[in-house]
Amino acid sequence: MAFADTAVQSHVHYRGLRDWLDKVQGMGELLCVNGADWNVEMGSITQMLTEKSNGTAPAILFDEIPGYAKGFRTLYGHFSSIKRVALTLGLPLQHDRKVDIVQRYHQRMQNMKTLPPRFVKDGPVLQNVLEGDKVDVLKFPVPLHHEKDKARYIGTACCVMTQDPDSGWFNLGAYRSQVYDRNTVGCQITEGKHGRIHRDKNFERGKPMKVAIVCGQDPLLFMLASSPLPEISELDIAGGLRGEPIDVIKGPYTGFPIPADAEIVLEGETVPSQVRQEGPFGEWMGYYSDDTQPRPYVNVKTILYRNDPILCCAPQHKPVDETGLLKGVAGAAQIWSALEASGVPEILGVWNHEAGPATRFTVVQIRQRYPGHARQALHIAAACQGGAYAGKWTVVVDEDIDAGELDQVLWAMCTRFDPNVDIDLIQKAWASKRDPLFLPGNFNNRILIDACIPYDMKLKGTFPTVVDVSDDLRGKLRAKFPHIFPPM
Ligand SMILES: Cc1cc2nc3c(=O)[nH]c(=O)nc-3n(C[C@H](O)[C@H](O)[C@H](O)COP(=O)(O)O)c2cc1C
Repeated sequence: MAFADTAVQSHVHYRGLRDWLDKVQGMGELLCVNGADWNVEMGSITQMLTEKSNGTAPAILFDEIPGYAKGFRTLYGHFSSIKRVALTLGLPLQHDRKVDIVQRYHQRMQNMKTLPPRFVKDGPVLQNVLEGDKVDVLKFPVPLHHEKDKARYIGTACCVMTQDPDSGWFNLGAYRSQVYDRNTVGCQITEGKHGRIHRDKNFERGKPMKVAIVCGQDPLLFMLASSPLPEISELDIAGGLRGEPIDVIKGPYTGFPIPADAEIVLEGETVPSQVRQEGPFGEWMGYYSDDTQPRPYVNVKTILYRNDPILCCAPQHKPVDETGLLKGVAGAAQIWSALEASGVPEILGVWNHEAGPATRFTVVQIRQRYPGHARQALHIAAACQGGAYAGKWTVVVDEDIDAGELDQVLWAMCTRFDPNVDIDLIQKAWASKRDPLFLPGNFNNRILIDACIPYDMKLKGTFPTVVDVSDDLRGKLRAKFPHIFPPM
């Protein structure tokens, strides 16, 4: 299934968060709300507008937050529509299947050359620089996102920048940041994540680690920071996707490459054996299932921010929340790449269902070519780097089932699947303690479902014919009754 060149080409649809907001407003997908409180109101309003929106919720820009100057804003719901995901990735906004966005993103990543950032002398992020006694992270309207959180979290839709002490590459990861006081914030990084590996390497050597927490930025950087990418800086990937380098300034405290148009950046350091109780926080599986325990924190040394700064937020709730599509698309593109890199042919679709969430319910759509093809796709999708973390269900379906349409997937599971032979299990896999059912040692078990027509029946043509309206008749009826079926 090849797209015309123009369809996979990336375009610079916008430059920076503020231009992105203008474009989103032009698309009719921006809601501006004045007067909501930082104390649970903003996160809850976003969830109420998103949970049943089926991919149509707006991005929400909150201003005039009580206790804060007008212009000190927050942004929620970046990616609760597939059009905004496409806008951010520079892909065509129109699509037939949701899965087309994943395919185009995956193809773009395959054809892309990374482009390192370009250092510039100045940028809007340096409009305000707070150091020493002036440092105060509560200068911004940091929300209490969920009713049962114990603290305000400044980092949710953030990019935590760390450097590998061996090779020097810079990672950006979306890792949550609790506020303790004006110059102390948390940083919860799960085992195996790149920022955690960087921190562990430093701490094993008894060394502190510098860190920059970018709390408002180009949505592309947030999307990449929350994607399971290989060990390549997200700044270089963003440059490659755009076809032009990301402008960065040298962070005054860290020396790190800080996006020149970032909204708010906290620079600081984290020190071995300095820990504070972190959590609880409403988490991505949709529960307060989190472990609250002592974790390393960040001593904030410098704050950089633009005039009228926008704090980007993405608290997670019971699905479907504002991060459902983001996590689904980001992980699916990586799984697609891994399947192709492993030589599995005829991949027609990969989708992580938003209610999963993340990679908890992954569907791979294939055109079966040989016995065992479906099982091969299942195991690779569940075990590759993009799909390995905290998965639960992986399902493979045939070419006539749209991987992104849950009703079709359920039909395949109900009519092409035999529980006796079409289930495999994976035990002791990479888990998350946010999973209410994580096992001792932080493992989990997974289920793989082969919902494809049994290959020998497909080959012999003995599987019954599907009851449907043929493409030919659909075309004729569309042409004959345009008032019933307006052109798409
Ligand atoms: C809104 C949001 C919040 C997240 N919070 C955390 C977090 O607190 N800790 C964590 O380890 N991963 C968190 N993640 C997942 C990571 O961002 C994701 O696994 C990403 O791939 C990490 O980057 P890395 O692969 O470079 O380590 C979050 C993802 C999203 C979308």
